Amino acid sequence: MGGEGAAFPAISLQDDIMSDHFTLPANGSFSFAGRTALVTGGGRGVGEAVAREIHAGGGRVAVSDVDSAVAQAVAASLDPSGETAIALTLDVREKAHFLAARDQMAGLWGKVDIVVNNAGFAKRTPTQDISPEEFDAIVQINMRSVFLSCQIFSDHMRENGYGRIVNITSLAGQNGGTVASPHYAASKAGAIMLTKYFARYLAGTGVTVNAIAPGPIDTAKARLSAEQIAQVECEVPVGRFMEVGEIAAATALLASDRGGFFVGATLDMNGGLYLR
Ligand SMILES: NC(=O)c1ccc[n+]([C@@H]2O[C@H](COP(=O)([O-])OP(=O)(O)OC[C@H]3O[C@@H](n4cnc5c(N)ncnc54)[C@H](O)[C@@H]3O)[C@@H](O)[C@H]2O)c1
Repeated sequence: MGGEGAAFPAISLQDDIMSDHFTLPANGSFSFAGRTALVTGGGRGVGEAVAREIHAGGGRVAVSDVDSAVAQAVAASLDPSGETAIALTLDVREKAHFLAARDQMAGLWGKVDIVVNNAGFAKRTPTQDISPEEFDAIVQINMRSVFLSCQIFSDHMRENGYGRIVNITSLAGQNGGTVASPHYAASKAGAIMLTKYFARYLAGTGVTVNAIAPGPIDTAKARLSAEQIAQVECEVPVGRFMEVGEIAAATALLASDRGGFFVGATLDMNGGLYLR
């Protein structure tokens, strides 16, 4: 810690990029004892990290994904007995799948306390090539899903007098993003607005609804070329992508008992790309 006037060491963006190599495993910083959580898109990436974090805090977790195999693998690695972790096949485009998840969890564990609407899909089609069908498909996955989930779980949680809904949106929904397409950006903006809508709708019932707006996350690297990765690292003021452990920790805060005074917030996690 430098005192007043202490010289800070000069750092270059290149030095900072080395931080790609550290990881932040789930550490159960927040207690989820007695809580149950549904995580969509929980079979890998951010959703998997969130499921692990809540489970590490003592919560029971339904790891859901459109890809049953990855959901199974994560749930089995958390608890092979299936007592505290189960896998659900849930396509967020399907209202019936949300209803089935609610009923299955309520049957098994009595209630659903936490829902993390994480599943999302980005397609970087050149603007002039986006068909009306593709536009609608992206909106279904990233925005309509949030509506369906909030619609279904608001009644369930209100009846229980407790609930936490966390929507994983995007920096693209705030400022258009760094490399996003218009349908993705617009759908994430809609998810942010749905967060505010349902937060007000449920305020005072014990149920909170909040969002996180991430900038580039490590998981995106697999879809980018080396040049694109280097470009993003140069553009982000902290000089790196976000680790999934970082967004899992913020999600845990919003999803925890201690997150009760966040109402309709969108937490910016963009490494300084967008300050408002
Ligand atoms: N990766 C980034 O840089 C970045 C940046 C900002 C926001 N986000 C958002 O964060 C969230 C998680 O991103 P990620 O990088 O972990 O994604 P990912 O692609 O690594 O994982 C997404 C998961 O969602 C599942 N999924 C896809 N379509 C689904 C559907 N219709 N129903 C249910 N599950 C479905 C996939 O099978 C996969 O397991 C997404 O909402 C994404 O839009 C990501």
